[in-house]
Amino acid sequence: MPYSPTIDIYTVPTSLGLPFSHWSTMSRFVVTGHAGFIGFHVARQLLEHGHEVLGVDAITDYYDPSLKRSRLQSLRHFDKLVGEEFELEDADRLLRSITNFEPDVIIHLAAQAGVRYSLEAPFAYIQANLVGTFNLLEAARISKPKHLLLASSSSIYGGNQSLPWSETDRTDSPMSLYAATKKGTEDLAHSYSSLWGIPTTAFRFFTVYGPMGRPDMALYKFVKAAFDGDAIDVYGHGKMRRDFTYIDDLVRAIVALINTPPVKNSPVGTADSLSPVAPYRSVNLGGGVPVELMSFIESVEQATGRTLKKNMLPMQMGDVLETYSETTLLRELIGEIPRTPVTTGVVSFVDWYKSYFHIDSTT
Ligand SMILES: NC(=O)c1ccc[n+]([C@@H]2O[C@H](COP(=O)([O-])OP(=O)(O)OC[C@H]3O[C@@H](n4cnc5c(N)ncnc54)[C@H](O)[C@@H]3O)[C@@H](O)[C@H]2O)c1
Repeated sequence: MPYSPTIDIYTVPTSLGLPFSHWSTMSRFVVTGHAGFIGFHVARQLLEHGHEVLGVDAITDYYDPSLKRSRLQSLRHFDKLVGEEFELEDADRLLRSITNFEPDVIIHLAAQAGVRYSLEAPFAYIQANLVGTFNLLEAARISKPKHLLLASSSSIYGGNQSLPWSETDRTDSPMSLYAATKKGTEDLAHSYSSLWGIPTTAFRFFTVYGPMGRPDMALYKFVKAAFDGDAIDVYGHGKMRRDFTYIDDLVRAIVALINTPPVKNSPVGTADSLSPVAPYRSVNLGGGVPVELMSFIESVEQATGRTLKKNMLPMQMGDVLETYSETTLLRELIGEIPRTPVTTGVVSFVDWYKSYFHIDSTT
């Protein structure tokens, strides 16, 4: 079914030009967090290619739920989407919904996201990320998908000093509760994979950005400040470096990985993080090109045509100086590293932002 844009939403390009071999023969997908930034883009790609999707999202108010509703609104034309609104903590409902749907694949993206908010609202992280993930795993145990894919985070590398971060590095120095719950997500999933033989891939995402992105993240805040004429807070005095990942690149990699479920005792290549006891691996999803924060801000200034006022500040609690993804495993699994340059990705975000908020930047 063709994608029908709505007048209230800027539509990002929907075809990622994926080679046919990357499209799954598996056709029934559960996507948790489908109203969220990444889940929305993943669900849309699957729907675009004719797959059935059961989306589960509680539309939490961590950030303005109207953005989540707008994302869902732009999916409304897909009759192969069944969207359900409830918390993962509702174990009975989650189990019922997933087992009734009989998915081939479960993509678990719903979570309480954000490093900094985990200092303010730790309870939400334990509930959504640990209790919610446990309930999801129980549903997977019963429904037996061919592949379970779930979101972890680059933040689990914590205080690791040796860069780039590789999937085979230790991850036992989390620096925030968010990171600890993502480490817990991986460990819970590994135990279920080992016990019940569920082929499982844990994605370690590196600072994902793009159209329809999250208001709590730096790019959104910078662009908003540029158009509102406000100052931005620049942490780490602008010296922090981030391996930014453009959303289309991320979705392209996720879709390619769907068809690559881990097989016990069958590592691919030399860099595989495959568990010695389970069909389980973790994979970095980052381009391997860290960008300094000040250079990222310059891209925002160029794309918006505005010069930002900057409050230069020290690093915040829980933050790390640099994130940098080792990419060998991803290349070995999917044959490429999708890499949209930050300057291009930021322009796409700004185009979306202007359209979404009806901003005429010439005035
Ligand atoms: N965006 C990034 O840069 C990034 C980086 C690392 C990891 N991640 C992880 O990727 C996943 C998706 O992140 P995102 O950026 O799309 O975040 P998001 O906040 O936009 O999406 C998460 C969705 O989950 C839903 N949700 C939260 N708690 C829930 C619960 N208890 N029950 C049901 N639904 C719930 C929210 O309503 C939201 O729509 C998350 O697991 C996040 O931790 C994201």
